[in-house]
Amino acid sequence: MPHSPSAPATKAPASVLVVFGASGDLTKRLLMPALYNLAGNQLLDDAFEVIGVSRSAMTDADFQAKQAEFMSTFTQLRSGDATQTLDETAWRWLEQRLSYVSGSYGDAATYRALAERIGNRNAVFFLAVPSETFEPILDALHASGLMQQAKGKYRRVVVEKPFGRDHASAIALNQHLLGMFKEEQIYRIDHYLGKETVQNISALRFGNRLFESTWNGEHIESVQITAAETVGVEGRGPFYEPTGALRDMVVNHLFQLLALITMEPPTTASADAIRTEKAKAIQAIVPFSASDLQQDVVRGQYTAGTVKGAAVAGYVQEEHVAADSVTETYVAMRLKVDTPRWKDVPFYLRTGKRLATRKTEIVITFRQPQTWAQAPALANTLVLRMQPEEGITLFVNAKVPGQTQALQSVALDFGYKNAFALKPNTGYESLLYDVLRGDQTLYNRADIIEAGWEKVQPILDAVAKNKLKLHPYEAGSEGPQIADNLPCRSGHTWRRLV
Ligand SMILES: NC(=O)c1ccc[n+]([C@@H]2O[C@H](COP(=O)([O-])OP(=O)(O)OC[C@H]3O[C@@H](n4cnc5c(N)ncnc54)[C@H](OP(=O)(O)O)[C@@H]3O)[C@@H](O)[C@H]2O)c1
Repeated sequence: MPHSPSAPATKAPASVLVVFGASGDLTKRLLMPALYNLAGNQLLDDAFEVIGVSRSAMTDADFQAKQAEFMSTFTQLRSGDATQTLDETAWRWLEQRLSYVSGSYGDAATYRALAERIGNRNAVFFLAVPSETFEPILDALHASGLMQQAKGKYRRVVVEKPFGRDHASAIALNQHLLGMFKEEQIYRIDHYLGKETVQNISALRFGNRLFESTWNGEHIESVQITAAETVGVEGRGPFYEPTGALRDMVVNHLFQLLALITMEPPTTASADAIRTEKAKAIQAIVPFSASDLQQDVVRGQYTAGTVKGAAVAGYVQEEHVAADSVTETYVAMRLKVDTPRWKDVPFYLRTGKRLATRKTEIVITFRQPQTWAQAPALANTLVLRMQPEEGITLFVNAKVPGQTQALQSVALDFGYKNAFALKPNTGYESLLYDVLRGDQTLYNRADIIEAGWEKVQPILDAVAKNKLKLHPYEAGSEGPQIADNLPCRSGHTWRRLV
C-alpha cells in the first residue's frame, strides 16, 4: 500500500522573537529569509512579531528597509535563477511585524524597553551576536526577569555558535546558563542540524531496512566526513584568528554529522531520547593520546594559490591576520568510535578553507563483496551530499554489457532538487519553527557540546604547547599532502575534492 504523505505542519504558537544583533549579517542573510519562508508557508501565527535589538541607531522603518533591501535579492541569490522574484505577500506580512529597539546590550534600559513591548506574551530571545557578547546579554535577560515564565507562557533563549572555545569554557558557560535558566529554555544552535540533508541522515538510516541492517562494522569498512570550502577568511580575520578550523568546524559541525552516522537508534522519538544517543555517540570517540595526535591529526594553513582560476592570497596576507599567524585553516583527523557497532572502523574527518572545491559530504565505504567468483567487485560506496548538490549517490557493481563477466561501479543517484519541489531556503527555517514550538530535537544539549570539546581538548593542548606542526598547503589544492597518510595507513584514500 502506498504511504500517504504526513499531515501538513501547523502554525507555531503566537510569540515575539527578539533578535539581539539585529543590525548584523546573520539576521539579514539567514534569519530574515528563514522567517519569510515560514511566513510564505503560513507557519507563523498572525500575532507573531519580531523585535530587532542592537546598538546601531535605527527606526522601525530603517530596520524594515535594511531587511527588505537584502530580501529583494534573496530568491535570486539562493536559487541562482534571475527570474525568481520575491513573494511580496509573504514579505509584506513579515515586514509589518518587524520593529526595532536601539540600545546597549548591558544597559537595563534596553531590557525595560523590551519588557514593555513584550508584555506577558511568549518570547524567544535569539543571540545573533558575536560570542563575547553572549554572557552580558544572558545575565541581563536574567536580571531583568524577562526569562521568567508565567503560567502557560514560555521564555526561551537561542545561543549561537561558537558555544565555548575549549572544554573548560563550554562547561563554564553551561553552568552559568543552567544557574539562571532551565535546560528546556536553552536552545544551543548548530545550523548544520537545520539542513534538510542532515536531517535526512536519520531518515535514511532508520527509515530504510536496506541500510539499517548493514549499518555497522561488519559491513562498513570506513567513513569519511568532509566540509571543504573554496572561500578564505573573507575579512573575518578578527573572528578567525583566535578560532581556526578546529574550533570553528569540528565540534560544531563535523562531530554532529559523525554522531548522526554512529548513534544507536533512539528508544523513542522524543528530543531527549535522540539527544541522549547523540551525546553517547560523541562520548564514544576514542580520546587522542599524545602519541596518537602526531599521526592522527593534521593541521594546515593555506598559502597563495589559484582557486577556480583566480589567483588568491595566502592566509597570512589576508586582512586582519598576523603575518606570523599559526592559526590552522585546515584540519584533518582519524578517529575511532568505541562501540560494538563501530569496532575497527576508521573515521576520517577533514575541513578547510581555500580548497579545490566547495563540498560537504559523508562517504560510507562498504566492505569488499566476497561472493562474485567471475570478476573482482569494487566496494559499494554511499555518498551523502550536503552541498552543493544535495542528494545521495550509491555506487553499486553492474555487469559490463557484452560477452564479459567484468563488473563496473555505477551510480544510483538521488538529487533533492529532482525529487522534491524545493524552494530556496537557509537551513534556519526548521530551527526557528522548532524553537517557537518548543521542540529541542535539532538543538544541542549541554552534554553533547561538552563531550565534543572534551574530545578535541588534547589537540587544543598540543597546539597551545606548540607540539602539533602546521603544514602549509597551496590555495586551490586538496589540503596538505601529509593528510593523505591518515587514510593511507589503512589502505584507504580520501575521495577527491573535484
Ligand atoms: N553570519 C553568519 O553567516 C553566521 C552563520 C552561523 C552562525 N553565526 C553566528 O551568529 C552570530 C552573529 O553573527 P554575525 O555574522 O551576524 O555577526 P556580526 O554581523 O559581526 O554581529 C552582529 C551584530 O552584533 C553587534 N556586535 C558586533 N560586535 C560586537 C561586540 N564586540 N560587542 C557587542 N555587539 C557587537 C553588531 O551590532 P551593533 O553594533 O549594532 O550592536 C552587529 O551588527 C555569531 O555568534 C556567529 O558565530 C553567523
